[in-house]
Amino acid sequence: MLFVSEPNLGPDEKVAVAEVIASNWITMGDRVRQFEMEFASHHNVGDAVAVSSCTAGLHLALQALGIGPGDEVLVPSLSFVATANAVLYTGARPIFVDVESIDVPLMSCAHAAAKVTDRTKAAVVMHYAGYLANRDAWKDFAGARGLFLVEDSAHAVGQGRTGLFGDVAVFSFYGNKNMTTGEGGMIVASDPSILKSVRQARGHGMTTDTVTRLRERPASYDVTMLGQNYRMNELSAAIGSVQLRKLAGWNDRRQTLTAHYRGALGAFCPDVSVPFSAAWPSAHHILPVLLPEDADRTRIMNSLREEGIQTSMHYPAIHLTSLYRGMYPGVSLPLTETFSRRELTLPLHPKMNTEQVETVARSLAQALAD
Ligand SMILES: Cc1ncc(COP(=O)(O)O)c(C=O)c1O
Repeated sequence: MLFVSEPNLGPDEKVAVAEVIASNWITMGDRVRQFEMEFASHHNVGDAVAVSSCTAGLHLALQALGIGPGDEVLVPSLSFVATANAVLYTGARPIFVDVESIDVPLMSCAHAAAKVTDRTKAAVVMHYAGYLANRDAWKDFAGARGLFLVEDSAHAVGQGRTGLFGDVAVFSFYGNKNMTTGEGGMIVASDPSILKSVRQARGHGMTTDTVTRLRERPASYDVTMLGQNYRMNELSAAIGSVQLRKLAGWNDRRQTLTAHYRGALGAFCPDVSVPFSAAWPSAHHILPVLLPEDADRTRIMNSLREEGIQTSMHYPAIHLTSLYRGMYPGVSLPLTETFSRRELTLPLHPKMNTEQVETVARSLAQALAD
């Protein structure tokens, strides 16, 4: 089966994990700190805080910005449900915003502007499929209204130009991401006091952690805020350090494969469009395509599966899931709904070759013609 995504784990990761086991120190130690510093330098920022997942990181970020009950946070509905869930965890209300267009399925600044109220405190932008949200437009948007800007950068790990353009950005290392630690995430922030706050909150709000108490021998610790257990472990961090060294090469490979896909799909499936038709900075996390309006997506997915090709969807619109429709009925986002109905995600990962890309494009053309 050609999978939509695949982790790239090998002997280097095995050695790194074996070293952690031999050290007998398996959580919140030097490797987590080392991984944080390596990640920060790779993304051109001063520091970073490792956490147990991107979802945990988004929750910590919003919490550190003081978002809570009574507040509203603008979010894309075309995202993984975690983007909106993180807002709910704080007690605030997610306000769903439509995408710019079906060619640029990123949260629309213009639609966001129409949804701002005096309760709006923040906007969470998401770099869909790895394609970067417009830095200048969102900075102006948030700056003009005094809103916090959070980047859900789950799809944009390693994108050189991501850096940080809002107050906080959170990355994911889940198993299907551009690099993985199994489960894991990383927070970067422009204000060091935000990072200090999330670092404390990820460990129950305690003023010291185990390794500090061992080395510096403070007798006890205090708890000065309500925190969570959102820590990363040493095994994950050791894998992360190894993966980070390979990330740039993998992202280049993703870019090459994406370019091949654009050519092959243009040749074999002229009725299928590939979003972001103009040149666009991207980490090329996934390969979304839009099927023709009248195509039966389920039939096409089944037929590709029979050819040994896995496909998936990114995403069912969050505002139409039972949970969110029940909580916030009547939300209508026409472009998101059209995109979500027609979208199909094709396999894309660095272990693939260009022949496989051609095979997928030919198989999709056949499935559409059947
Ligand atoms: C856009 C987006 N946001 C958030 C998440 C949550 O990441 P994690 O699984 O690390 O919690 C994901 C993960 O799939 C995602 O794709």
